[in-house]
Amino acid sequence: MIISAQGLRKTFVTKSRKGTQTVEAVKGVDLEVKSGEIYGVLGPNGAGKTTTIRMLATLIVPDAGTATIAGHDLVKEPGQIRRKLGYVSQAGGVEEQNSPRAQVVFAAKIYGVPDPAQAADEILKKMDLAEIADRPGRTLSGGQKRRVAIALGLVHTPPLLFLDEPTTGLDPQNRANLWDRIKELRQQGTSVLLTTHYLEEADALCDRLAIVDHGVVVAEGTPAELKRSVSGDVVTLRLDELERAATVLGPMAKQIRVDEDMLRVYVDDGEHALPPLLRTLEAEGLSLRSIALERATLDDVFLAKTGRSLRDTGAAA
Ligand SMILES: Nc1ncnc2c1ncn2[C@@H]1O[C@H](COP(=O)(O)OP(=O)(O)O)[C@@H](O)[C@H]1O
Ligand SMILES: [Mg+2]
Repeated sequence: MIISAQGLRKTFVTKSRKGTQTVEAVKGVDLEVKSGEIYGVLGPNGAGKTTTIRMLATLIVPDAGTATIAGHDLVKEPGQIRRKLGYVSQAGGVEEQNSPRAQVVFAAKIYGVPDPAQAADEILKKMDLAEIADRPGRTLSGGQKRRVAIALGLVHTPPLLFLDEPTTGLDPQNRANLWDRIKELRQQGTSVLLTTHYLEEADALCDRLAIVDHGVVVAEGTPAELKRSVSGDVVTLRLDELERAATVLGPMAKQIRVDEDMLRVYVDDGEHALPPLLRTLEAEGLSLRSIALERATLDDVFLAKTGRSLRDTGAAA
């Protein structure tokens, strides 16, 4: 394990004229990250993802709990841990007036990298930034800026990289490009701990993940294991009278949810459930636009564990 954490807790107390406010941001989190994997912390805004990753990166001190990171104790040896990690914050800033190359060379010097120019050259190539490496930061696109921020966290070739919401706000193409870069890092042996509120990102990119909500881990495993843990199948129906269909099909399903223009009907066995569902809809005069049998998604896992959809929390799918 490159990260092994038990019982991490953090409470924030803020004082203002209105009085004292206490927020239990992280309420006892355990995490086990294996060397060489991409591990995701998936959850809605406010779930405690940033607080968790900042504690593990030694940027804030936990109120309670223990952790070993890259063989060092989180509380007793934070300096040793810092040398072994790269950290890219959620906002991940890039200087407007300086070129990516100048910024990466400067970071390499701060880290005491033996040949800063050479190291910068390598990491800029690796992050697909060679062609724009000498332009001022302000001329870069959002995706390019994000890759520069990651290059700054990697120039000292740490074995462990922390990425806080690396693709939030990026368009699909830049997001896919960044996923490829992160997968290449894994191939080269870097362990990655990232946070995300994108279901699709957790599913496509992470070897294993923890789903967090209100400061606790509600489920943990590989995407496939998590989806299998939601027993049964999902029949998705598109039709006009969603609410009436939900009412008449209710007794035949384990759970029913209206998801935008479609009804998600959770059943034990989709193939057995389909014929009676269709007969009932026909008897009620409800005509279907489409029907499909699907496997559970990570959002179904979130729903099963928390009673709400991650999409409904304001986090995009
Ligand atoms: N420095 C802070 N002071 C007070 N409250 C904070 C602070 N940082 C985070 N919080 C609160 O802790 C909770 C978890 O925040 P955060 O870890 O940023 O969640 P996430 O990254 O999952 O969106 C939120 O309710 C947030 O408002
Ligand atoms: Mg955050």
